[in-house]
Amino acid sequence: QTIGDLGDLRGRRVLVRSDLNVPLDGTSITDDGRVRASVPTISRLRDAGARVIVTAHLGRPKGAPDPAYSLAPVARRLGELLGGDVALATDTVGDSARHTVNRLEDGQVCVLENVRFNPGETSKDDAERAAFAGELASLADAFVSDGFGVVHRKQASVYDVAKLLPHAAGGLVEQETEVLERLTESPARPYAVVLGGSKVSDKLGVIDSLLEKADTLLIGGGMVFTFLAASGNEVGTSLLESDQIDAVKGYLATAKERGVDIVLPTDVVVAPAFAADSPATTVAADAMPADQMGLDIGPESAAAFAEAIRGARTVFWNGPMGVFEMDAFAEGTRVVAQALTEVSGLSVVGGGDSAAAVRKLGFSDGQFGHISTGGGASLEFLEGKTLPGLDVLEK
Ligand code: 3PG
Repeated sequence: QTIGDLGDLRGRRVLVRSDLNVPLDGTSITDDGRVRASVPTISRLRDAGARVIVTAHLGRPKGAPDPAYSLAPVARRLGELLGGDVALATDTVGDSARHTVNRLEDGQVCVLENVRFNPGETSKDDAERAAFAGELASLADAFVSDGFGVVHRKQASVYDVAKLLPHAAGGLVEQETEVLERLTESPARPYAVVLGGSKVSDKLGVIDSLLEKADTLLIGGGMVFTFLAASGNEVGTSLLESDQIDAVKGYLATAKERGVDIVLPTDVVVAPAFAADSPATTVAADAMPADQMGLDIGPESAAAFAEAIRGARTVFWNGPMGVFEMDAFAEGTRVVAQALTEVSGLSVVGGGDSAAAVRKLGFSDGQFGHISTGGGASLEFLEGKTLPGLDVLEK
């Protein structure tokens, strides 16, 4: 069901689950992409005369109020983007939430405080989650699921509440699933996937399924050192998941059997320490000094990755190629991002970190085919897993 199926929304209280989990520096938002992505659905509901109640999480508080994780900066930013005040309830389902919702007029928007301040949100106990979902549902007449970045979580405001109210997918969830389905169903070939980020253990499932679908896997980021080690290289003091070396050897063998090209860097930018001012040098990937760590792919590798990306007709990218937050180790990520903007087919940037990286490096959203708001969610979608937050909408 989509929003249109909910009928006339004038005067109805609509609970919207958005993903407003943005990176913060103190109380300033360093990348507001997820807030901006949530605006079209909220605006649409507001224009339809609904009383809009936004529920969302920020970070991983421990099931109790914690000012460090308050949604206050996010509610302020949402108000700026919507061009009007957005009230913030100081709790999730308590007195403040009820009063704030009762005061809403048609076409007005409020935000409930961080939904993870309530232990019921993330509880593994079905009854506890359902009880909290019941309290959330009692605030509203309908539910719109628009937080694509959290649909892989079986949590009260994502999953259980949809069972209690007339519900629909919001525009963002609709749009994200349509684009990602193009990657899983019939990607135009060649289909290249660029994977980076720190941990290979977060990507095992998706690598497994990509070995059946992609033509080329380009590997960078911290996880590449486990690949390099599995291929017989010394990796100095780089990040290494020794317990994954056997799994990675298995992937390299499977890729060979299936004709999938796994491309590893041939050169690496290394430094003695994980620090912005640590002296950086470029070395061959098979000659990394024992006392240095790899912090970016080197220029030769970045150029080779860029060529493979530009030659593909479908590209999905998740995870930075290096420590892009530090200028000396940002070049690999910049070159890969630039190549994605030059793809003649579909280019998709998946994940909060990669999306934040491309914006920090000065690219704009419009230069890419699609920037997904989902990190874990987009990977699990590609993996073909059942995502509880989508599954519940279909039932
Ligand atoms: C994300 O940042 O990927 C989503 O907001 C989900 O957050 P979580 O990993 O803390 O559930």
